[in-house]
Amino acid sequence: MTQKIIAIDGPAGSGKSTVARALASALGWAFLDTGAMYRAVTCEALDQGVDVNDQRAVAALAASLRLTTLPRVTVNGRDVEEEIRTDRVNAAVSVVAANALVRATMVARQRQWAAEQPLGTVVEGRDTTTVVFPEATLKVFLTASLEERARRRGDEGEASVARRDEADTNRNASPLRQADDALVLDTTGRAVDEVVGEIITCLTNLHSN
Ligand code: DC
Repeated sequence: MTQKIIAIDGPAGSGKSTVARALASALGWAFLDTGAMYRAVTCEALDQGVDVNDQRAVAALAASLRLTTLPRVTVNGRDVEEEIRTDRVNAAVSVVAANALVRATMVARQRQWAAEQPLGTVVEGRDTTTVVFPEATLKVFLTASLEERARRRGDEGEASVARRDEADTNRNASPLRQADDALVLDTTGRAVDEVVGEIITCLTNLHSN
């Protein structure tokens, strides 16, 4: 693989989205939010009245969609940037993300998209370090204390975040798993810039070795 990829994973509230965006901006690289893709498929399934539990129907829909994540999340040309963060999408997205047929389509699109970026891509999401880009230039796994992650999630509460950790870790399709060779960073009590700086230092060291 010749393209440069930094893949970032971690549990809910670990800071992966914020850190990934800031890192892409600091490096001048493209940014890919893979969670937004699963959310966009979910959104379109709900809007078209497709049963999210009907795995084949959702997979067929996922394969046929025109999807963008930048500069805005769109499905078939329709802007869904706000809609993908609504409660009804939050409630259904884990079913869509657990659909192995949908995942196969999304993973292929993610690889294709990254291959087209001229400089490099920072990609964020659940299976990006283990399944999508196991050969990434750098793999980062962010963690933070349960208390801090719950605080970052606002009203969600520690019990709910802990339940989500459990579900994410124990699902069959691409569970939350730390890649063996990932740089593990605990973001508890740390500023975004500091974490970004540490990742860039690590990247620089890779290149000079
Ligand atoms: O990161 P997020 O909350 O936007 O992700 C939305 C859902 O999609 C969540 O259930 C995790 C899942 N997801 C996934 O299974 N694989 C990815 N690469 C990214 C997100």
